[in-house]
Amino acid sequence: MKFKTSSDCCSKATCNWLVVLISKSEHKSPNITALDSALGGAIVAVTGRDDFTADTLELLTLFQTSGVAADNVVLVGVGDVADCNRRTVRQAMLTGLRVCCSNKDQTVAVVAEDAIVDCVSASVFANTFGDSITSAPTGADIYKSEKARHPFSSATLCIADNDLESHIESGAEVGDCCNLVKTLVNRTAEDLTPEVFANEAVAQAVALGIQADVLEEGELVKERMGAMLAVARGSQLPPRMVRLTWKGADSGPKLAIVGKGVTFDSGGYSIKPSASMISMKADMGGAATAYGAIIAAAKLKLPVQLTVYLGLVENMISGNAYRLGDVVTARNGTTVEIHNTDAEGRLVLADVLSYAVDDGAEQLIDMATLTGACVVALGEEVTGVFAGDQTLADDLVSASESVGEYFWPMPMHNHFAPLLKSSVADCKNVGPRWGGAVTAAKFLQKFVGETPWVHLDIAGPSWADSGNSWQDAGGTADPLRSIVAWLERQSGNS
Ligand code: BES
Ligand code: MN
Ligand code: ZN
Repeated sequence: MKFKTSSDCCSKATCNWLVVLISKSEHKSPNITALDSALGGAIVAVTGRDDFTADTLELLTLFQTSGVAADNVVLVGVGDVADCNRRTVRQAMLTGLRVCCSNKDQTVAVVAEDAIVDCVSASVFANTFGDSITSAPTGADIYKSEKARHPFSSATLCIADNDLESHIESGAEVGDCCNLVKTLVNRTAEDLTPEVFANEAVAQAVALGIQADVLEEGELVKERMGAMLAVARGSQLPPRMVRLTWKGADSGPKLAIVGKGVTFDSGGYSIKPSASMISMKADMGGAATAYGAIIAAAKLKLPVQLTVYLGLVENMISGNAYRLGDVVTARNGTTVEIHNTDAEGRLVLADVLSYAVDDGAEQLIDMATLTGACVVALGEEVTGVFAGDQTLADDLVSASESVGEYFWPMPMHNHFAPLLKSSVADCKNVGPRWGGAVTAAKFLQKFVGETPWVHLDIAGPSWADSGNSWQDAGGTADPLRSIVAWLERQSGNS
């Protein structure tokens, strides 16, 4: 991909597509006024006729326009400038760009009203541009013979500011990592098995200077990871735990991210109904996002020490699968009575979290598509934040705000803990129906000791049941951008 910036009037940008971000405000900035007159007043005309009111994500394509160097002009609304933020700008940019990449090798230029650039700042706008150009074409079409969208061959940002190249480039790196995460999530469970995930992750990580090792089944047994192994037992496919370390600094806190990597969740003997099982190839979204985060850290050369742990297993049914009523012994010695084999993610995380703690984690985050209850509580676009440590949770929420992803705190009061009491073992693996996302988090807390820790339930945002103007159905890569922003802040880089 070739990126350029240009301070010329965007009417002079020679390209297949010119994407124009416009607000509802009456007074457009000089660049839009100049574009409008080059177009013979077309923008004012469509706005005047109410064909295009610049409402949020409203789209109007002017094909084969004359007066400008671009072949076609795509108008995208962002609504009121007052409501403008990084999320609306990214969604608007993606909405416009996704119109422009159905053919191969397209060239594109992007321009926005000054007020829109100003509301996020020129550097953030440039970062969003690099990110969106890179990520717009990648979606759910990986198994289609005819791809729905194609990468752009060049992209120009029409903006008066200089020195935005580095922001565009870092945005593009993050966009690339988002594509990696989306594609991992969209791959089938038949294709992306625990073993394949582990092998591919290690190969790609090592090429970027990330240290990598894999614990195979025998080593998981030696580590006494009885909870994770119980989940894995029903599958023909052997489990894996991947550990990746990026040493971008010699000092500073040891950051650690644990990802739930259930490559398929049938529910086990507590089997899921078909309608809930259909999307369960995506139950490795936590591992994919954790993996994307360390790849981003390496590509951006962030001066942090980060270790990522991926718990990779498949939750299946067989004569050898774990049963309801079984008691399993987790790595830290806790015995767990199984009341529901569909509450498997917390069993995987229990052992991987305790491994990470013993491995020296000083700031510990886990990401998991853990509960439907969290989606009931917060909806499909919000990550649930369960604060074992309030400072770490606040830092993550603040990082999410800086990139326009949604994080929201969930309760962690102690009265939830006794709901996991078992009459035969130290605890059971599920609580009652109400507060299911919280009891899941309370379960995880038993395995992190005193380590500052936050659990992120990403069951909603990491996956989209249906597509819209700015993203396909399927893997979304949300909340990768927040995690990268948090890592940048840890390194004092932002
Ligand atoms: N992977 C699911 C959670 C999930 C649900 C992710 C919907 C994405 C969309 C998890 O393993 C699960 O099955 N959780 C159960 C927990 C219950 C048995 C306590 C759930 O949410 O129903
Ligand atoms: Mn499950
Ligand atoms: Zn699951």
